[in-house]
Amino acid sequence: MPATIIMGGQWGDEGKGKLTDALAAEADLVVRANGGSNAGHTVVTPQGTFKLHLIPSGILHDRVVSVIGAGVVIEPSALVSEMKGLRERQIDLSPLRISERAHLVMPYHPQIDSLEEDRRGEQQIGTTRRGIGPAYADKVSRTGLRIADLMDERILRYRLRTELDRKNALLDRLYGVEPLDYDTVVSELLELAEVIRPHVVASEVVVQDALATGQNILIECAQASMLDIDYGSYPYVTSSSPTAAGACQGAGVGPTQVTQIIAVFKAYSTRVGSGPLPTELYDETGELIRRRGNEYGTTTGRPRRVGWFDGTSARYAARLNGVTEVALTLVDVLDTLPEIAVSNGYRLKGEEIAYPPAQDSEFAMVEPTYQTVRGWEQDITGARSIKELPLNALVYLDLIEERIGAPITRIGVGPGREQLVDRPSGQVAIR
Ligand code: GDP
Ligand code: IMO
Ligand code: MG
Repeated sequence: MPATIIMGGQWGDEGKGKLTDALAAEADLVVRANGGSNAGHTVVTPQGTFKLHLIPSGILHDRVVSVIGAGVVIEPSALVSEMKGLRERQIDLSPLRISERAHLVMPYHPQIDSLEEDRRGEQQIGTTRRGIGPAYADKVSRTGLRIADLMDERILRYRLRTELDRKNALLDRLYGVEPLDYDTVVSELLELAEVIRPHVVASEVVVQDALATGQNILIECAQASMLDIDYGSYPYVTSSSPTAAGACQGAGVGPTQVTQIIAVFKAYSTRVGSGPLPTELYDETGELIRRRGNEYGTTTGRPRRVGWFDGTSARYAARLNGVTEVALTLVDVLDTLPEIAVSNGYRLKGEEIAYPPAQDSEFAMVEPTYQTVRGWEQDITGARSIKELPLNALVYLDLIEERIGAPITRIGVGPGREQLVDRPSGQVAIR
């Protein structure tokens, strides 16, 4: 059986965790493909709310094997505290597998992330300060340490000696802060290693064996296409590839093994951190959406910036990722609005443009054009089938679907596991 990718179509926090958990009920294996503890994936179940950062959102289903793939960067202390939190809530971690190839977020990475952000001042990216950029930078520079190194004390000690000397020189001479103590770093890591060890595997082999035996695999991305290092609003991006292509690489799956690429989009836009958000709302409507959607970062608690649905960036993302289906989430957040706008284009210096400009200063200058539709002004959180949705909501879905250019097959009407409406293709209200 082939694999399904679940990825973000906007700037993150689209509800990837909720969808992954919902689809995991039918899956055998869920692999997290990219990012690190910058991600915050919320799953609301009858047992309570879970906020997952590194551990795949399949973990709440006993039967499902949950794999942290090679493309993820892992901060051992963050992983161990997440594992502890789940164990305390009676979640069985025996199906957790961790790639020996995944890179480590070392203690100096969050420190450098923060120091760099402070140094950028007004130009700061607004990173989560979890050390993600510095860890991926070391991976690409081939100076990173990996889970495999953490599993072998001799190698860990040897590699860390060289690397810590370099990092301490940087901390001391460039940033003027206290260097880290080698023995302290080693002993902390060795203690964490023992908690992690029973879960460490050749994850790409686990995934390929599962594919070979006809199992059903979900690949869960973190972040989103508009935060992608290549196609996002650079430099206001993350440092991995949260795309369908990146999902294959991070999970250890070939492109021909994927049959479905589900992009999760919110019914409006949000962004946390700096960078262009062309449809941003600075008024009461934005405040209302923020409040109703509880738009505060899962990882950092920062208020998310809010705007209307951006059809141009959405179509760009859908095309780049070869999206086959869309899950449109948080539609219920718009329940009280009398009118809803959807951006149907960008203008830059008086000219229409069909895709986000590469230069962030130009992207920040684009003027979105809008189409406005009537709201449904009714509570849809109890809807469980497409027939229970008001006509104006269906009209809105059709409009968004047309903008994205891929079929909306699932609709989120609330944070709960069951608050997901299936929309079998072909059930279109009005064109
Ligand atoms: P992720 O990072 O893509 O997994 O998304 P987050 O968990 O960071 O943010 C999504 C937020 O929206 C979480 O608080 C979810 O519980 C919530 N959520 C997901 N889907 C829906 C929905 O359809 N309606 C509402 N009201 N909330 C939702
Ligand atoms: P999930 O998986 C939303 C944003 C940060 C910042 C930029 C770079 O929950 O959707 P980083 O720490 O990655 O170097 O920060 O990316 N960012 C996210 N925004 N959701 C996320 O993850 C994010 N992960 C990173 O706010 O703008
Ligand atoms: Mg999130």
